[in-house]
Amino acid sequence: MKKEDLFRGALEAKKKAYVPYSNFHVGAAVLGDDGKIYTGGNIEIASYSPTICAERVAIFKAISEGAKKIKAIAVTGDAKDTFPCGVCRQVMVEFQEDLKIYIVNSLEDYQEFSLEDLLPHSFSNEDLS
Ligand code: THU
Repeated sequence: MKKEDLFRGALEAKKKAYVPYSNFHVGAAVLGDDGKIYTGGNIEIASYSPTICAERVAIFKAISEGAKKIKAIAVTGDAKDTFPCGVCRQVMVEFQEDLKIYIVNSLEDYQEFSLEDLLPHSFSNEDLS
């Protein structure tokens, strides 16, 4: 997989975000351990709390379609350098495998992080065993 393919997926998914309340578009694209790319945009609901971030749409699509782990995620939003919220970072902990996180403004303008960068000292399933 070329990371540009992942970035393109996120940039395209952002266009499909359903955001009538915030008008803040976010797109995400995930590389699953099955080698496939799964994309998602944020989806907002009138009563607000059922709203779901783009990252979780893409991750849940991947897992529900059979991927067991996620290897990379690209995130792009209406703000320059849109970072994942805390809830999405915790979801990434659950399914990550040496996860690369790309914060994308365009195909040429991006930054790469590890999950340890974004959520150090995290709680995970290992703590439960
Ligand atoms: N949002 C995301 O989709 N991902 C993030 O990482 C940050 C926030 C969405 C949630 C809501 O639809 C809108 O952006 C404004 O908060």
